[in-house]
Amino acid sequence: MDLISALESLEPELEAGLAQASSLEKLEELRIEFLGRKGRLAKLMSQLPSLDPAERPKFGQRANELKESCNARFDKVKDSLLAARERASLARFDSSTPGRKYWQGSLHPDTLIMEEICAIFEKLGFDIAQGPEVEIDHYNFEALNMPPEHPARDMQDTLYITDNILLRTHTSPVQVRTMLARKPPLAVVVPGKVYRRDSDLTHTHMFHQVEGLLVDKNISMAHLRGILTVFVRDVFGPSTEVRFRQSFFPFTEPSAEVDISCFLCGGVGHIDNEPCRVCKGTGWVEVLGCGMVDPAVFEAVNYPKDVSGFAFGLGVERIAMLKYGIGDLRMFFENDLRFLQQF
Ligand code: DAH
Repeated sequence: MDLISALESLEPELEAGLAQASSLEKLEELRIEFLGRKGRLAKLMSQLPSLDPAERPKFGQRANELKESCNARFDKVKDSLLAARERASLARFDSSTPGRKYWQGSLHPDTLIMEEICAIFEKLGFDIAQGPEVEIDHYNFEALNMPPEHPARDMQDTLYITDNILLRTHTSPVQVRTMLARKPPLAVVVPGKVYRRDSDLTHTHMFHQVEGLLVDKNISMAHLRGILTVFVRDVFGPSTEVRFRQSFFPFTEPSAEVDISCFLCGGVGHIDNEPCRVCKGTGWVEVLGCGMVDPAVFEAVNYPKDVSGFAFGLGVERIAMLKYGIGDLRMFFENDLRFLQQF
């Protein structure tokens, strides 16, 4: 057969093949056979140099026409096969089958509790403030009335990066940063991570605190007590009682630890004649530290002499452990889904 007739016979053969192609896979095989780089059309075209030079243009033109029309035929058959496949899958779709449940992520319990705590203070007019986790000694200690060699530094096992740079041991440095950036009156709460060099059942290298600071004129401990009472009643229930115990922090004077009446035994210390396991029979549980801002702190930030204020700091995990009866602090950070999915 000469080259021209071979070319002309391609189209009817392809037509017959297409009529048989029952699947997309078969169709693709056919396309490769006829139109592929080493397919039948390509083979015929490679023989072009053997033709008489006068016949070459006509042959070339015809071959190109054929290529285009064959491609168009393939596309048409492909479209109809795709449509048929779609129809078939819709016919199999059973709208009464229950859906598959997708696994949904959620916020970490620490984040949830910090949000809950901050929301309570926001309702009371406090702003949210934040500060860096890598802090300088001056903000973490010195401006908070803990100069170098002050024994109160020993209460916090510090992770130093250099002599002067450390991982903040509490959120209190944000008190200083806030007061340097803003004039009184102000009220802020500061959620965030803090770091210490210790680790056991009730201590981890990293944990979370929420700091509070309110500065204005004529602020007294009564304001502090009022605000904290609203807070603990919101978290632990409306009948919760608050008790202040004297304490010491270098940056507050006077300072206090706040205990709340035990939410499990109702403050009586026992349940069915057994000592209560939450308050160990005392009727009270410690929840946070607080006090009136020490004048030395106001001095460190150049605040006027006529302001006063209160501050407090609470451990987020401690609040969560009390509220949800969690026995081991380390569970917060082990990423065990059986724990995390309960929140
Ligand atoms: N910074 C203290 C700590 O980490 C907690 C604290 C106590 C913060 C009393 C305060 C405060 O603002 O007034 O142990």
